[in-house]
Amino acid sequence: MPTALPIASLDWNAVDTTYLSYLNEHPDMPERWLLVQTLATGPSRRALLGALGVAEGAHVLDVGTGFGPTPVELAGMVPVTVVGLDRDPANLEVARAITEGVEERGWFRPGSQVSYGLGDAYDLPVDDGRFDLATARLLFQHLDDPGRAADELFRVVAPGGGVCVVDADDGLSISYPEPSDAFRRLQRAFADLQAARGGDRFVGRKVSTLLEQAGFTIVSVVVLPQAVHGPSTPEDPARAFALQRLRSARDAIVEAGILDADEVDDSLEVFAGERVDGQCSIEAHLAVVARKPA
Ligand SMILES: C[S@@+](CC[C@H](N)C(=O)[O-])C[C@H]1O[C@@H](n2cnc3c(N)ncnc32)[C@H](O)[C@@H]1O
Repeated sequence: MPTALPIASLDWNAVDTTYLSYLNEHPDMPERWLLVQTLATGPSRRALLGALGVAEGAHVLDVGTGFGPTPVELAGMVPVTVVGLDRDPANLEVARAITEGVEERGWFRPGSQVSYGLGDAYDLPVDDGRFDLATARLLFQHLDDPGRAADELFRVVAPGGGVCVVDADDGLSISYPEPSDAFRRLQRAFADLQAARGGDRFVGRKVSTLLEQAGFTIVSVVVLPQAVHGPSTPEDPARAFALQRLRSARDAIVEAGILDADEVDDSLEVFAGERVDGQCSIEAHLAVVARKPA
């Protein structure tokens, strides 16, 4: 059965232009940093999607779909039916607008269908064994009971079907020279906020165990690293991205009592103005591919 086209043969311009236009046309959109991150992490996400070897005609479920990068990009690689579910209606609205923009640019393979709906990872509105493949990217880090979500993924995948869960692990973040105290304070506060909400910034290392406990057979565990070396300056797009993400969490960090308002604002100001001549920064996601026994 034919599978996805090689990613190098595809014109990703249609997708990136749509993400960029949406960013430019919606300067005040919520979770803007997530769309910036979606753009920045395109190469590793697409390489992984291509490597999954999704078959033509497959039915795919993407849980915690956010702005829908997985459904949109997969539907341009191979004719598939993809359903993206998320518990946040605002994110689904953005996903639908982006999907429309990408479709208008002629990106989808003939026969591909993408749709979205509300759905909680703990209680998916989906029949047992309905999908050939389920994906969840950067979802588990937000969950207080990721094992329950793994059980749900197992339930909705057909026997012999697959799952691919990708998530972050802050233990895989390294930089030299070391980040400033201001940045470290903010990063710790961000991780504490996620933990206070029941999430886990170190979940990457736990995903394979959770999927195995749910009944899946682990096929592979892959590290998807991103490394850059260069000056780190206020003009740097990576700095702008980090700042956006931290600023968007500012009020919640204060409300949760993790840092007081002055501490956050002072740290943000110092971090925003920092200049480092040359810095090597490495971050990584873990991708786990697993199969439900036939
Ligand atoms: C960091 S975003 C990742 C989005 C997307 N998968 C991607 O790769 O860009 C996490 C998404 O998970 C969603 N989410 C968090 N908890 C959820 C839950 N219990 N059920 C469904 N979606 C959830 C959030 O609303 C958000 O859209």
